Parts: sequence; structure tokens; C-alpha cells
Amino acid sequence: MNTKLSIQNVDLFYGDFQALKDVNLNLKEKTITAFIGPSGCGKSTLLKSLNRMNDLIEGCKITGQISLDGEDIYSGMDVNLLRRRVGMVFQKPNPFPMSVYDNIAYGPRTHGIRSKAKLDEMVENSLRSAAIWDEMKDRLKKSALGLSGGQQQRLCIARALAVEPEVLLMDEPTSALDPISTSKIEDLVLELKQNYTIIIVTHNMQQATRISDDTAFFLLGEIVEFGKTEELFSMPKEKRTEDYITGRFG
Ligand SMILES: Nc1ncnc2c1ncn2[C@@H]1O[C@H](COP(=O)(O)OP(=O)(O)OP(=O)(O)O)[C@@H](O)[C@H]1O
Ligand SMILES: [Mg+2]
Repeated sequence: MNTKLSIQNVDLFYGDFQALKDVNLNLKEKTITAFIGPSGCGKSTLLKSLNRMNDLIEGCKITGQISLDGEDIYSGMDVNLLRRRVGMVFQKPNPFPMSVYDNIAYGPRTHGIRSKAKLDEMVENSLRSAAIWDEMKDRLKKSALGLSGGQQQRLCIARALAVEPEVLLMDEPTSALDPISTSKIEDLVLELKQNYTIIIVTHNMQQATRISDDTAFFLLGEIVEFGKTEELFSMPKEKRTEDYITGRFG
């Protein structure tokens, strides 16, 4: 399988504090990778560095190389184009205070699409891909803020898909949701794997084993172990991984 994202010798500093230490990872195309590890170990930091969200943080410095389809994302790549190719979904659903329709059409409009027919089509396709079309088709003009938490999160996934990304970054996308909404999102993520490369941060070990192909275990800014999810959870190579996944630490 092709490498979609290659992370090589990445160090990241917030001022004097080193949040990532010599991170090396190759993420394969159309697979789901889980990032696990205790709070503060750098999972969100690495995730955000994959679409340069860290650029917005003052005092943040990154060295090493991250490439998307072999192209260095930190040198010479247009950031807007990068963020279009590498979309993101956050822990807390964050719909814009506008209608369901306008939430989804927002990205395509920003990229210059004006035709109503085309926008209608993109809105429907995105909502279908995020498994929320049936629930939304009669309330497209209603405010997105009136949706349930689980619906809002699927709407945010639909919004991320509307600009036709290649990679989807998800930072604890179900941690604010009930078990039924969580299960819907997990089914959806598995479905999306056919077309997207997905990286998901989760504190839920069962979730990682249910949906991911590969898992990276982080500790204090380093990747302790990376491998096939099945193997990492059943036969961890490192004592520190074993201690964490068995709940002896963390
Ligand atoms: N903007 C920032 N400025 C300074 N330090 C930061 C900033 N963001 C994160 N950090 C620090 O970097 C380290 C890694 O943070 P990060 O958010 O990546 O952890 P995490 O693994 O996602 O944790 P959690 O599971 O709690 O979300 C932490 O020590 C955190 O305090
Ligand atoms: Mg985090």
C-alpha cells in the first residue's frame, strides 16, 4: 500500500518546551491509524502538524519533514490547498452558527463554487457520505445549532468532506457523544476508509481496536510503538505499551 503521509525526524517545540521528539511514521493510503497515549503526550500536536494548524500558534517551531504523496508540506506547499487536502474534525462538534445547508456549502463557496445546482449536489453528497442525509434532508434550512451532539458531529464530518479532502484528521471525535452516536460515527469512519486516509486520536482502546488498522502509542512526545493494531494490542513489543494498554499506567 502507498504511503500517504510520511513523517520523518519531526521535533516540535512550543517555545522552550519540546512536545514532539524525533517522530517517524509512515501512514498508508486508505487506512485508519489510531493515535493513543496518556493526556499531554503529543497526539493532538502531531495531528495538527499534519495540516499545519500549528502555524497559527505563536512560538511553535517544527523541524524534520512531513510529506503528503511525497511532497514536503512545510516547504513550498500552499497552506490553503494543504488544508483542503487534509481536513480536520475536532473533539467538540463545532458547527458554524448558520443553516445545515450553509455549513456544508461554506467550504465549496470559499473555493469559488457559485452554481446552486452544483452546491445542492455537493451538500447532498457530503451529507450522504456522513450518513446523515436522511435526518437532514427536511431541515436543510434550519440552524445547525439545533441539532443533537451526535448529529452536529456527523454534520462536521460532512462539512470536512464537502471540500473533497484526501486525508481526514479526527481528534477524539466521539469523546463528547453517547454510545449510539459513537457507534454511528465508528461505522461511518470504517465506511469512509474506502476513499480516505484517516487518522484518529482516541482515549478509547476498544474504539482503536474496533476501527483502526494501525496504532501509534505515544508517551511524552515520543512514539514508543507503532504497528498493526491487532498486534500492538495483543502482543505489544514494549513494556511501556503493555502497561498502558492494560491500564497499569496512564
Ligand atoms: N499551544 C500550546 N502552547 C504550549 N504548550 C502546548 C500547546 N499545546 C500543547 N502544548 C503542550 O504540549 C504537550 C502535548 O499536548 P497535546 O495537546 O498534543 O497532548 P495530547 O496528547 O493531545 O493530550 P490530550 O489527550 O489531553 O488531548 C502538552 O504538554 C501540552 O501542555
Ligand atoms: Mg489532544
